[in-house]
Amino acid sequence: MKILGIETSCDETAASVVDNALHVHSSIVESSIDQHRPFGGVVPELAGRAHVTTIGPVVRRALEEAGLDPHRPAIDAIAVTSGPGLIGSLLVGLSAAKAYALSWGVPFVGVNHLEGHLFAPLLERPDLAWPVLTLLVSGGHSLIVLQGGPGDHRVLGETIDDAAGEAYDKVARWLGLGYPGGPAIDRLAREGSSSALKLPVSMTGNDLDLSFSGLKTAVVRATEKQRDVALADVAASFQEAVAEQLLRKLRAGLVANDVAGLALAGGVAANSRLREGVRELAAEFGVEAHLPTMAMCTDNAAMIAAAGIYRLEQSGPSSLTLSARPNWQLADVA
Ligand code: KG4
Ligand code: ZN
Repeated sequence: MKILGIETSCDETAASVVDNALHVHSSIVESSIDQHRPFGGVVPELAGRAHVTTIGPVVRRALEEAGLDPHRPAIDAIAVTSGPGLIGSLLVGLSAAKAYALSWGVPFVGVNHLEGHLFAPLLERPDLAWPVLTLLVSGGHSLIVLQGGPGDHRVLGETIDDAAGEAYDKVARWLGLGYPGGPAIDRLAREGSSSALKLPVSMTGNDLDLSFSGLKTAVVRATEKQRDVALADVAASFQEAVAEQLLRKLRAGLVANDVAGLALAGGVAANSRLREGVRELAAEFGVEAHLPTMAMCTDNAAMIAAAGIYRLEQSGPSSLTLSARPNWQLADVA
């Protein structure tokens, strides 16, 4: 069985062909990020328009790279992100998926974007041992999830304010480092001292919820007070405070739950300090560390196709009347 995945929830237009052994035959990702850069964040209207012009060519390339006829591809189903995300962006992918499904006579299934991210580690390690404790950190979401198996997930904690990536982007903007901020701060942090700036570690309680908005404010205050501090030192201090909070919560999660693996997912999973910390933590607890490659951490359609295979098997296809759900929570995925 081969499935075409389509992802358009934010600024990436992506399509991928994956089979039911989770082998990725193609994965194409086109980002409209260059259009958003001058605005310091994703502009929904621009993202939606970019998807309209890009979706057709991206799907065509994904089919061709998988060795399929783009006019009449031998695929068995289509999976598409139907939420959460920007409504205008989601609707482009969803409408395209419905149109392809109708014209090719194949079923389609709506997939939760966050559940998609949870399938990313599996695409690189289809035989991984369960249960897995996963930290899902992106520009829009930050959750700690206990996964009993594919599609079996329980949210143990989540951010009460900003997402981790959002905090990176806001601090980078304050420091004049451009958008997106994560990669820039990560790079700069390697040349700085993490003890240069005294920053609070948020959420030191026993629950697994997260918070980043206080930290962002603390960076602004500290740099206003200490104007001569080097940018690299601010980056290193901020990065350390984020990592310390995340790793502290993962440690609490590992103490409370008997798992076989510790996984990272989402764009912030590319962060070098976080990856190093997760590797160390997994070694300390004697569990496997699952650190997907950069291409699997950030938004892509292979993870949507993988989640779609599972959802099709579990609940069957979606109706052609399916609507986009911009605020669809992971906890509400049946
Ligand atoms: O998953 P993703 O590609 O898109 C969303 O669904 O949000 O994540 C993008 C986020 C951005 O906020 C970006 O700044 C952050 O991931 N990011 C990083 C790094 N690379 C990307 N954050 C910290 N360190 C990085 N190396
Ligand atoms: Zn994402």
